[in-house]
Amino acid sequence: MSTAIETHDLSKRYRSQVAVNHLDLQVARGEIFGFLGPNGAGKTTTFLMLLGLSEPTAGTVRVCGFDPTRAPLKVKRVVGYLPENVGFYEDMTAFDNLRYVARLNGIRDGALQGRIEAVLDQVGLLAEGRKRVGAYSRGMRQRLGIAEVLLKDPQVAFLDEPTLGLDPDGTQRMLDFIQGLSREKGITVFFSSHQLDQVQRISDRVGIMLKGTLVAAGPIEELARQRLGVDQENYTLEEIYLRYFREDQPTQ
Ligand SMILES: Nc1ncnc2c1ncn2[C@@H]1O[C@H](COP(=O)(O)OP(=O)(O)O)[C@@H](O)[C@H]1O
Ligand SMILES: [Mg+2]
Repeated sequence: MSTAIETHDLSKRYRSQVAVNHLDLQVARGEIFGFLGPNGAGKTTTFLMLLGLSEPTAGTVRVCGFDPTRAPLKVKRVVGYLPENVGFYEDMTAFDNLRYVARLNGIRDGALQGRIEAVLDQVGLLAEGRKRVGAYSRGMRQRLGIAEVLLKDPQVAFLDEPTLGLDPDGTQRMLDFIQGLSREKGITVFFSSHQLDQVQRISDRVGIMLKGTLVAAGPIEELARQRLGVDQENYTLEEIYLRYFREDQPTQ
């Protein structure tokens, strides 16, 4: 099966607030999909439903063919998740945090020590792996979050604002890791970010959410043709995004 993520008519309502509204989405295996939208658009709510951490009000979800509501453990086994605010045990080292996560996930690998070292090395934290996480910077925490995702060796990685709070260099490095997940390991990546230039650099396709509704989805060049016209050769994702965004605002 070539579809990694599929939703149909997916909706989530919190009391009177519609957070996600009839979302139809398909993400192919191995693809990097950038999930865009202003704060409050419904991105995190969508992540939670895709992961089986929040129950949809209506509609269906499949992740690698599994229904996260009915088979949460099957989904958990094939996905990695970097939450919006990644949390670790502050008094434990990065190494011990990863060992703890491995045990929680039932990773019983005789070579666990070597595997933890390998993922720390991949995110550039091997030298600092024996430091307390309490002493880590924002960028180091985010990278440790990616190490945690790598440790699970997932088929799909869900990364909710992995570049939040990072400086330009940290953002660039993070996006390089994300690209590597897909290009080197064949992992499907579903991520949200406000760094539109970086999203444009690495995404195969993007989706734009506004007030719970997916207003556009596709390859960036296709959205550019639709929104900016066929003649425009040089475009940025930011321009395209702002067109959708402004169209939605009441005229002054
Ligand atoms: N647990 C919750 N209870 C009530 N409302 C919520 C809850 N989580 C999110 N919302 C609301 O749903 C909408 C979408 O939020 P969210 O999915 O966090 O957006 P995003 O991640 O795009 O910033 C917002 O209006 C938010 O206030
Ligand atoms: Mg969010």
